[in-house]
Amino acid sequence: MDHLLPSFYQRVQERRDGVGACVVNATPGSFYGRLFPNNYIHFFQSSYSLHWLSQTPEELIKGAKPLNKGNIYITTTSSPIVFKAYLEQFQRDFSFFLKSRSDELKVGGIMVLTFQGREKAHEITHPLVVIGMLLKDMILEGLVEETKLDSFNLPIYFPTMEEVREVIEAEGSFTLQTLKTFKLGWDANLQDEVNGSLLDSKIRGEFIAKSIRVVFEPILTVEFGNEIMDELFSRFATKISQLIEFEALEYTNLVMSMGKA
Ligand SMILES: C[S@@+](CC[C@H](N)C(=O)[O-])C[C@H]1O[C@@H](n2cnc3c(N)ncnc32)[C@H](O)[C@@H]1O
Repeated sequence: MDHLLPSFYQRVQERRDGVGACVVNATPGSFYGRLFPNNYIHFFQSSYSLHWLSQTPEELIKGAKPLNKGNIYITTTSSPIVFKAYLEQFQRDFSFFLKSRSDELKVGGIMVLTFQGREKAHEITHPLVVIGMLLKDMILEGLVEETKLDSFNLPIYFPTMEEVREVIEAEGSFTLQTLKTFKLGWDANLQDEVNGSLLDSKIRGEFIAKSIRVVFEPILTVEFGNEIMDELFSRFATKISQLIEFEALEYTNLVMSMGKA
């Protein structure tokens, strides 16, 4: 990012429309906890990050028997206990996030958040579900150890609008102004680039595989090893190319604005 800053500062200086001084700063630490002094910030914006939990729900791994056997996230076959464990982890984390930001926000301050969610309580269409299915196939072929898949759950959660609203209201530091969902194709960035031209499903599958690999490979490698990653994501690209012929593969995103209560 440092190589982009000089030209960014120059563009800010050249503006004549009364935009004030702008300071770019990096702050170490997790957003689940305090990052800035009290009453310090006028406006918070966070994009595409808050679906990451602070940790995998402990209930899923603390017993002798793995509760989300054969999956890396919630799927339609997961038991209600798995849904509940993920939801409760999200409620704890998001509530702590809201409390931390509200202490840092000045009175009258605003916060805008965008992150991935889900539309209906039981909608579980996500690339992670496809990855889970492929890992299961790879167990049958002896490429992945079953116990590794059984004990692994991603620290991620895609809430519904209602789940988000309930946490904001229960936590109480913010007054919700808007809360909406919008959809984005899994290959929306690629579609932007080609501007309406029709693309081959193989190219779309490969693009989606790369965009998922870049995010999830590091965490999957720790659990399943580097050796299977080429194979896993090559299978993933093929599977997505097939699926994309039959259904619109889209993320549900949540966007919300709120003021300090
Ligand atoms: C998909 S990127 C989004 C980056 C950027 N905001 C954007 O919209 O392009 C998700 C980011 O969330 C960050 N992240 C996840 N959990 C976090 C946490 N607890 N505290 C701070 N950053 C976190 C990751 O490090 C990653 O940079």
